Amino acid sequence: MEKKQSRFLNACRGLPVDATPVWFMRQAGRYMAEYRAIREKLTLLEIVQRPEVAAEVTLQPVEAHGVDAAILFADILLPVVPLGFNLEFVKGRGPQIDNPFRQETDLDRMRPIEARADLGHVMETIQLLRKELSPEVALIGFSGAPFTVASYVIEGGPSKEYHHVKTLMYSRPDLWNSFLGKITEALTDYLLAQIEVGAQAVQLFDSWVGVLNPADYREYVLPHSRKILQAAQGTGVPVIHFGTNTTTLLPLMKEAGGDVIGLDWRLPLDDGWKILGEDVGVQGNLDPLALFAPREVLAHKVRDVLNRAGGKPGHIFNLGHGISRHTDPGQVKAVVDMVHEWTSR
Ligand code: CP3
Repeated sequence: MEKKQSRFLNACRGLPVDATPVWFMRQAGRYMAEYRAIREKLTLLEIVQRPEVAAEVTLQPVEAHGVDAAILFADILLPVVPLGFNLEFVKGRGPQIDNPFRQETDLDRMRPIEARADLGHVMETIQLLRKELSPEVALIGFSGAPFTVASYVIEGGPSKEYHHVKTLMYSRPDLWNSFLGKITEALTDYLLAQIEVGAQAVQLFDSWVGVLNPADYREYVLPHSRKILQAAQGTGVPVIHFGTNTTTLLPLMKEAGGDVIGLDWRLPLDDGWKILGEDVGVQGNLDPLALFAPREVLAHKVRDVLNRAGGKPGHIFNLGHGISRHTDPGQVKAVVDMVHEWTSR
């Protein structure tokens, strides 16, 4: 049993908390000088392959800003490597895969993964972190959602139009489903392994699913997302289900699963929570670019999110998406302090 309760975990479970918990998506990264110092010597993939370094980077924002949760330093694309895809992070172009999935015969070069062995360095990072973190700071594990991970593997990198994704989905739904089935199986194994070795909550990132309308989400994505979400929820740890541009998808995302649903900044938090219903928690939803506003404007916007949450149990304060790399860390710390101070009870 934990000596001191984590307010983040309590909020995920809809329990009353002493103050609203706060953390930030992409809270470890290039906006922090401490991270840039390590990145001068090591690539992103080298960091994640060295558990001591990955753990150190995970802890940087906890120490600097006093957030209520640490998110494992890793990347949603790591599991595609043991699946058989070549992953590289190219400066200025983001993730690149030079052998993308495009046709039936590509299924044959996909290998089944064994996350505990194939991604053993990630598991070691989690174990180190659980020893180093104090009990009131929860450790969040994560995985990409089937759609978002598949979209990188099919496009071979980031995309605006999702031309190859939608071509495959609409013209070969059978192949789409076989491919997503394999991806889902691998991601599920990866997520369950993280929970087994010590992740105390997990987040499923479906960052780009907002390019679909509700009918396509229901047909091509929901069955796959539901599988991984239900498997994770079956372990008893809280599960956060996140996406962006999802205003019209929220009821279906709730149907797919999750104890907490992430809201981006495009709709007011209370409107989002009303759509979802009070039987799930919500995470969000400050505009990440609000961190570039003068302090009083930022304060007003933080206050607005908190007012809309109305102090109801089940709110976790976060941004609507990841922190921009140009953010001033002082602004991040200021938000943590505002949230804690204004909600402490
Ligand atoms: O602090 C944290 O949030 C934990 C670490 C984390 C990273 N990636 C490290 C990372 C997490 C949770 C992710 C998730 C991730 N990765 C997502 C979903 C989250 C989201 O923002 O929607 C996505 C879509 C990816 C894929 C990915 N990884 C992209 C598109 C990029 C390139 C972005 C860029 O600006 O170059 C990455 C690289 C990446 N992953 C960085 C970090 C800190 C960039 C920093 C670097 O190169 O050092």
